[in-house]
This record gives sequence, structure tokens and C-alpha cells, in this order.
Amino acid sequence: MINLVVLISGSGSNLQALIDACAAGTIDARIAAVISNRPNAFGLERARQAGVAAHCIDHTEYGSREEFDCQLQQQIDHYQPDLVVLAGFMRILTPAFTRHYLGRMLNIHPSLLPKYPGLNTHQRALDAGDASHGVTVHFVTPELDGGPNVVQAIVPVLPADDAAALARRVLAQEHVIYPLAVSWFAEGRLQMDDNRCLLDGQPLPASGYIIDSRR
Ligand code: GAR
Repeated sequence: MINLVVLISGSGSNLQALIDACAAGTIDARIAAVISNRPNAFGLERARQAGVAAHCIDHTEYGSREEFDCQLQQQIDHYQPDLVVLAGFMRILTPAFTRHYLGRMLNIHPSLLPKYPGLNTHQRALDAGDASHGVTVHFVTPELDGGPNVVQAIVPVLPADDAAALARRVLAQEHVIYPLAVSWFAEGRLQMDDNRCLLDGQPLPASGYIIDSRR
């Protein structure tokens, strides 16, 4: 069983999916701690409800990204995690921080990367007239939303969609693919190797493993 530390900034619905999958035994892991950069993140409450240590390191109390990331790294490493899981953690990370966790930090991003790194992904997919949209789990590297893809879920964009409706459809898939990716890592099936992903020793395509919920 591996040790996880989960970083959040908000509601923590992905955190909840991970808590539930660990409790159900679908992921062979234990969440050692949850850390938020925002004091009022509801995810902290979810952690406490699950009996998981919950900490806040408020980024507004730090003078620079380097100082914040340094404090965050100390708090994370106190728990000696095998894997750090970014679950709606809305911070740009310093290169030194990402290098420290290279190959052992995953992120979930609500777009089909490399499309739409950054913010407002759902509105950008709508504005571009995309027929499909989705979500990506990837290893974190110094490049923002740029590390190798592990898994993507594709959803349809429907004619009546606004950004909120599309976000809900994507979020439902997030709760499927994040536990899946973390379970692969926990079972020793998933590695990052030379900026690509290996699943069961085989290189994954650049898109990552695809789950297509359009049909
Ligand atoms: C999720 O949609 C996640 O993909 C996104 O934040 C949301 C967090 O929801 N992450 C990013 O945009 C990272 N760039 P949650 O707090 O309910 O898990």
C-alpha cells in the first residue's frame, strides 16, 4: 500500500473520489494528508470527515512563490508520500518544486491536453466550436500543464451546453479517470520514463490511455 498526499484549493470532489476509492480498496493506497492553499476550501472538511490529516498553507502569507513552495514541500515531505496528487490545486509551481517530485506527482486538468492549458478551459472549448472536450491526468513537469499524459476521458459537446453544463459532464469523468490513474501507480503499473508514460512496461500514446464516453 502506498502513501498519498493530496493538494487541493477548492471543493475537493476529486479528493472525495480518491477517498472513496481508497476506502473501497479500488486504490491500494492510504491518503496520509490533504493540504490546501486556501483556508476555506471545502475539501479540508472532506478530509477531516474521512479522518485524514488536513492542513492549510495560505499562499497569501508568503512573499514569493519560492517561499510558499518551500514550506509546502516541507509539509508534504513530512508524510513521505510515494505520490503527490494535485486535485484542483490552483497554483503555478516553481521548477525546483516540480523537479523534486518528478515522476511522483500527478495533476488533473479539465481539457484534452495539449489543448487549453491554463484557465477557463470549458468556455474556450465552446468558443472554438469543438465537438468534443474532456479531461487529462498527467505527470507534472516544470512546463505548465505540459507533462506526459496518463489518461484522457473524452466527452461530447452538446448544442445546448454552456460552460457550467460542460464542466459537469467533464467532472463526472474526472471522478472516473483520477482514481484509475492513481490505482495504476499504486499497483506499480505506471511510470514516467524520459518524458513519456509507461503502463505495464509499454509506452502509452501521447494522448495517454483514452476513455471515450461519446458512445
Ligand atoms: C477540477 O475540474 C479540476 O480538473 C480542475 O479544478 C477542478 C477541481 O474540482 N483543475 C484545474 O483546473 C487545474 N488546472 P474539485 O475541487 O471538485 O476536485
